Amino acid sequence: MAGAASVAALAACGDGQFGPTAIVSTTKSVSLKVGSIPALATTGQLARVPQDGVYIDVKRTGPSTFLAVSTICTHQQCDTNINGNTIVCPCHDTHYDSDGHVTKQPTGGGSATSLPVYATSYDAASDTLTIG
Ligand code: FES
Repeated sequence: MAGAASVAALAACGDGQFGPTAIVSTTKSVSLKVGSIPALATTGQLARVPQDGVYIDVKRTGPSTFLAVSTICTHQQCDTNINGNTIVCPCHDTHYDSDGHVTKQPTGGGSATSLPVYATSYDAASDTLTIG
């Protein structure tokens, strides 16, 4: 059901620029091996993490802490991209910092808010990060 809602939201974007197939579900938890994603070895570096058809932007914030944010723009729900360590929406050029906070509002009107943040937990023994 959440997937259908996400697809409807994407269709509402209107200009056909959807980027990668990012559909974030808040009801589906994902787990990954941190060591399999080189960018997550460095504190502060964003990585786009695909897992079971879900894309989430993840940043290591400390030895055993991570931040995970949605890849869907809060303006009109287009898929964002990572550009360096900035999250950029191609539809109306909203920019977010690596914490998901808006640093540039969309061009052409309207406003964006911070990207939704997902709960994370990390098991150091198995090097497993669980999101959601
Ligand atoms: S949908 Fe992202 S800037 Fe408009």
